[in-house]
Amino acid sequence: LLFSECLSQDRKVRALPLSGHVGLDALPDQLVNKSLGQGFCFNLLCVGETGIGKSTLMNTLFSTDFENLESPHFEPRGKLRARTYGLRENGVQLKLTIVSTIGFGDQMNQQDSYQPIVDYVDAQFESFLQEELKIKRSLHNYHDSRVHVCLYFIAPSGHSLKSLDLVTMKKLDRKVNVIPVIAKSDTISRAELHSFKMKIMSELVSSGVQIYQFPTDDETVAGINGVMNGHLPFAVVGSTEAINVGNKLVRGRQYPWGVVQVENGSHCDFVKLREMLISVNMNDLREQTHARHYELYRRCRLQEMGFRDTEPNRKPASLHQTYTARRQEYLREFHGVEEEMKQMFVQKVKRTEAELKDAEEELQFRFERMKRLHQQEKKRLEEKRRILEEDMNSFNKMRAAVELLQAPSFSTAGKK
Ligand code: GTP
Repeated sequence: LLFSECLSQDRKVRALPLSGHVGLDALPDQLVNKSLGQGFCFNLLCVGETGIGKSTLMNTLFSTDFENLESPHFEPRGKLRARTYGLRENGVQLKLTIVSTIGFGDQMNQQDSYQPIVDYVDAQFESFLQEELKIKRSLHNYHDSRVHVCLYFIAPSGHSLKSLDLVTMKKLDRKVNVIPVIAKSDTISRAELHSFKMKIMSELVSSGVQIYQFPTDDETVAGINGVMNGHLPFAVVGSTEAINVGNKLVRGRQYPWGVVQVENGSHCDFVKLREMLISVNMNDLREQTHARHYELYRRCRLQEMGFRDTEPNRKPASLHQTYTARRQEYLREFHGVEEEMKQMFVQKVKRTEAELKDAEEELQFRFERMKRLHQQEKKRLEEKRRILEEDMNSFNKMRAAVELLQAPSFSTAGKK
């Protein structure tokens, strides 16, 4: 009934009753079979400071042991590491890519810590767009690496969000579905956790950060999603350790005073996160990525490239016209830049010439001064020499006179 109502709303489509079975009801099965054959792909981005529990939570979520390398705290500029795995459960194949930040927020200057993350998300959109724009596209076997969800790990301070958290989530919220989680929530008391959650949500709202809301438009999941939206941000605990509790092996963290059970709803929200992320909304996350975030990216990029949608009463511009217009615009910009660079070059040459002239004058001045000083010194030495020579002459004369006076008396004394 709903379907025929929907069809009849469109004036060009007439709803007709079928008088026998034609097999339309097999369409959903065809879709399911095709999807099962192709497998699914899901790309998950973990953003959080070093050692906050990203890898442990991934291992716990997917009940497996992904290769985990401890990240250093000395990354000069944060970066991301992406790894792709093939998972299979009951005949359903999932190509899962986990992207994790390395050194996020470790830098002294955290102003641009979000940049490598934004660049990564954009780069995946760009490579999908480039594939779409190819004449010979192969989207069916293209590895779609667009990020479907970003788990943002909040430190369990119990206090408030850091400005880095707000800035990063704000930069990401229009590019990716952001789900904030309170990491290592076993380190915070129940009462503190409650007020911490409220504080986080009110800070997100007042900063205009739009986190992903579990959809409530599909009535099959509207109830559960509506309730779960009220539990955000999920307080999670990660562990792959199996511990014996009441003769049952459970995953948890053993402390001297007891065991924190990961899958116990009264201990933490891990199960809620897993349900919402994987069982209920994985497909919506994929769809939102394509229909909302990628669409926005694509629109902006195509506008940048010079494409415009045609207005109703205008003749559509051909690809050639668009290309020519864009090329002319580019050439105009290019010539402008070229002219500007020429002017800059001429100015620079003039400045260098003036500097060289100044330096030459300075050198000449120093040379003249040294020459003057040298001549004065020479004169002074010559005068000194002249005086010395005069002194020597008079000394020699005196010596000769003395010798002359001494000579006869010496010979007279000898004769005696
Ligand atoms: P890098 O990739 O090196 O940045 O670290 P990470 O964020 O992946 O953290 P990782 O999962 O390696 O965990 C770091 C430490 O925190 C390990 O000793 C974990 O056992 C511990 N840890 C992980 N999850 C939790 C948790 O929920 N609660 C507590 N208390 N500790 C946790």
